[in-house]
Amino acid sequence: MTTEIQTELEQAVNYRRNFAIISHPDAGKTTLTEKLLLYGGAIHQAGAVKARRDQRKATSDWMEMEKQRGISITSTVLQFDYKNFQINLLDTPGHQDFSEDTYRTLAAADNAVMLIDAAKGLEPQTRKLFEVCKMRSLPIFTFVNKLDRPGREPLELLDEIEQELGLQTYAVNWPIGTGDRFKGVYDRRSKAIHLFERRAHGSQEARETVIELGDPKIEDYLPQDLYYQLKEDLEILEEIGSELDLEQVHAGKMTPVFFGSAMTNFGVKLFLEAFLDYALKPGGRYSSAGVLDPTYPEFSGFIFKLQANMDPKHRDRVAFVRVCTGKFEKDMTVNHARTGKTVRLSRPQKLFAQDRASIEEAYPGDVIGLNNPGVFAIGDTIYNGKKLEYEGIPCFSPELFAYLKNPNPSKFKQFQKGIQELTEEGAIQIMFSVDDFIRDPILAAVGQLQFEVVQFRMLNEYGVETRTEPLSYSVARWVAGGWKALEEVGRLFNTMTVKDGWGRPVLLFKNEWNLQQVKEDHPKLELTSTAPVG
Ligand code: G4P
Repeated sequence: MTTEIQTELEQAVNYRRNFAIISHPDAGKTTLTEKLLLYGGAIHQAGAVKARRDQRKATSDWMEMEKQRGISITSTVLQFDYKNFQINLLDTPGHQDFSEDTYRTLAAADNAVMLIDAAKGLEPQTRKLFEVCKMRSLPIFTFVNKLDRPGREPLELLDEIEQELGLQTYAVNWPIGTGDRFKGVYDRRSKAIHLFERRAHGSQEARETVIELGDPKIEDYLPQDLYYQLKEDLEILEEIGSELDLEQVHAGKMTPVFFGSAMTNFGVKLFLEAFLDYALKPGGRYSSAGVLDPTYPEFSGFIFKLQANMDPKHRDRVAFVRVCTGKFEKDMTVNHARTGKTVRLSRPQKLFAQDRASIEEAYPGDVIGLNNPGVFAIGDTIYNGKKLEYEGIPCFSPELFAYLKNPNPSKFKQFQKGIQELTEEGAIQIMFSVDDFIRDPILAAVGQLQFEVVQFRMLNEYGVETRTEPLSYSVARWVAGGWKALEEVGRLFNTMTVKDGWGRPVLLFKNEWNLQQVKEDHPKLELTSTAPVG
């Protein structure tokens, strides 16, 4: 028998879609986000997100570092409605603020949108983020951007995705011309050509003319060569012959591909509508109590990100929770799986860019921000009803390493406390030399900003001025077989052996090439790019 709450949850889940955008800096993530919000009516004029970004630089109570660098250390959740759907866009920190949080955000997402610059194809940050999506079998939707500029051949781009990522592709729409001659796209779903009008920077929704492929008037709209080119391309696509297989899409094995230009709004609406048809709704998740369907009537969720000092005046910390099952209600009391304590969830927040709005309730697929008086750590489960714990969020392979030095011995205690708390919170990973004489911890980060955050917080929260001393390594791998497996292979060249916060062996390599070398020389040595917490 379905209870009232289950019906309510089912309805909420059916119209929720949640996704994160994975891309390399400059591919157009901010622009696409802005256009999606524009279609969702969350903003009325494109430019608002960027303006907000610029405005932020001028706001006085931002964390000093944010002001200095004009960047956001905050991952935010953008929520907007489109047709009957409530869409949650989990903003993955990118650019200079790329950090482990970027990866962790993907643990809270049900779908990913892979944004590619048509001229550049796959780029390093996109590949790294793709690996995390693959680990989680997330459905990936590809948007090839900047078609209004000269770019690479669409077929070549599909081939690159197939060959390099091992993802089958299915082009849902197909571009007609590129650069100055980009005329629009052919939508294979409706079998119609969508012709677009250029508008200055696409500040409003694009107006479009839709015309059937066989329509005799087509020649009035399309130059003949582009029309023939399109027919030829479509024949090739038919010959390649892959069908859109939603099961494969949902398993993260096939990616529907869309072409467009976020800046001029070409193809954004078609993308959004197809995405909503194909994307996964919030689904069941593995937990210690088995796979739990989101309609499971008791509330549960996990923490995927902690945010400190967004506003130094209040010294607050926010824990971001992905709601997995049941209904969240303000002021509810929940169990905290790791500590066995109960916690009252007061002052929940919904985050739209930097404006925090208080929320009363939330459903599976939503993200809420909770004030965190130091009780939460990354990966923690909170729940009601029977005891359960979600799979933790792993540590991701760091790429930057530096000794953290405390030049002032009288601050030893504060230094230790700061390091311990910041690593527990997940602000950075910490490793140690295997040489007992070297006591300085090694900071291990995914992005440079993490070092700066640690030094800033050590000074402001713990009163310790620190120094960093960079190490010239750029790749880390955990040794699956532990110390024993490492001993068996004997001496390794061009690598440094360290131990992580749990005493496990980690190998640091100067570069990917050195890693390959070690792999070739020692095929039995099993190395992993992520490791479970603890
Ligand atoms: P990001 O968040 O992924 O880093 O990228 P962002 O949206 O900031 O876009 C990076 C640059 O690419 C911006 O140019 C933006 O206008 C441009 N861009 C984004 N989408 C398209 C597109 O579809 N076509 C073209 N031609 N350009 C696009 P900018 O010069 O850095 O900034 P702005 O002066 O345009 O604001």
